[in-house]
Amino acid sequence: MSGLLITFEGGEGAGKSTQILALADHLRAQGFEVIVTREPGGSAGAEAVRHVILSGAAETYGPAMEALLFAAARSDHVDQKIRPAIEAGQIVLCDRFIDSSRVYQGISGNLDPQFMQSVERIAIDGTMPDLTFILDIPADKGLARAGLRRGTEVADRFEKETIATHEARRQAFLAIAASEPQRCKVIDADRTVDEISAEIAALSDAAVKQREVSAHG
Ligand code: TYD
Repeated sequence: MSGLLITFEGGEGAGKSTQILALADHLRAQGFEVIVTREPGGSAGAEAVRHVILSGAAETYGPAMEALLFAAARSDHVDQKIRPAIEAGQIVLCDRFIDSSRVYQGISGNLDPQFMQSVERIAIDGTMPDLTFILDIPADKGLARAGLRRGTEVADRFEKETIATHEARRQAFLAIAASEPQRCKVIDADRTVDEISAEIAALSDAAVKQREVSAHG
């Protein structure tokens, strides 16, 4: 049986990493082999590119340059880690994936949708997420949480942008979810960790079951 790719998306401080670990525990307890990974990064080549992007070193060269760098990192990550794991029947949980590029580069960077689609196609080469959780939280609350987590470290390239930019991204994630309701589930992330993880676990169990049914049917 082939595995599954589940991605987690949303703004800063939405609680993605906590929820990914909770889902990994939940799935492992049922005997599934689970891999937890993240973008940008997740493979050696992609981690090398991660630093270039998040340090802001590429920022002056414009959003198209950044979109291509994210895509280069993603391509390596998919080839080296995600696709082989899916082919081996594992469940891959990935912190950010194509929807972050669509929103942060495509919408915030005001890039041509056709350019973005071509770049996405090359980066993933057919490996689409089976299920995507969009953790939704008002931008001001998310940024406050991200600030608490960061402590005295400086905000990264994307965190430092204005509340209005973050709120526009939130709306862009919601628009993606509305246009792909089968794949994308919006999760109200302004609740307790346990409430959120229970909803995510139930939706994931349904997707896994669906996969088993189609594998056997
Ligand atoms: P990271 O420190 O991993 O943060 P987070 O906990 O918010 O996921 O930083 C990743 C940053 O990169 C985040 O601000 C979103 C941004 N990003 C993009 O702009 N495009 C992308 O395709 C991806 C994967 C991330």
